[in-house]
Amino acid sequence: MAVIEKGSFEVISRSPTQTRRVGMRLGELLLPGDVVCLEGNLGAGKTTLVQGIASGWGSYDSVTSPSYVLVNVYRRLDQSQLFHLDAYRLSGPEEAVDLDLDAMLGQGPLLVEWADRIQDALPDECLSIKMRLINDEQRDFIVNAKGERHKDILDRFREDVYGA
Ligand SMILES: Nc1ncnc2c1ncn2[C@@H]1O[C@H](COP(=O)(O)OP(=O)(O)OP(=O)(O)O)[C@@H](O)[C@H]1O
Ligand SMILES: [Mg+2]
Repeated sequence: MAVIEKGSFEVISRSPTQTRRVGMRLGELLLPGDVVCLEGNLGAGKTTLVQGIASGWGSYDSVTSPSYVLVNVYRRLDQSQLFHLDAYRLSGPEEAVDLDLDAMLGQGPLLVEWADRIQDALPDECLSIKMRLINDEQRDFIVNAKGERHKDILDRFREDVYGA
């Protein structure tokens, strides 16, 4: 059983479709400068969640795993951008610094898979989602936030997921 810190919440997903739906709720809330850190092993559902986030944010671009290009950019009709970084193949924070994340954050929200690998290169204030595989179809997500803006996103995300 995971320890849930105050101000965080847990979601259990029972299918990829449900994971995408949860992602859509979050995507609707994201603005430039917002950072979503995704942590969890291979197959935990990070990219699946990003598919929902990108769709909720308003992009029709297809979401793929950016493992080889490192950063995918999704667009919206109003020309704003959503950045999707996969840190799996980065050697560490030093390599991430070269990507100039600050420039991206000036233009759009940033979603990071394997965020724990480049923690030191990421802003301290972010929404973090720790994702765990329970079995074939079930996933456990624990959502935390640091900083006023991201705590505000967390509260609204929780309300949208639980209708509370
Ligand atoms: N409840 C669920 N939520 C998300 N994915 C699920 C769920 N149940 C089954 N799956 C399957 O698990 C896999 C998750 O793959 P996904 O690429 O999203 O994981 P990932 O965390 O991004 O992995 P990687 O570390 O390789 O990037 C997909 O094949 C998906 O269909
Ligand atoms: Mg992935």
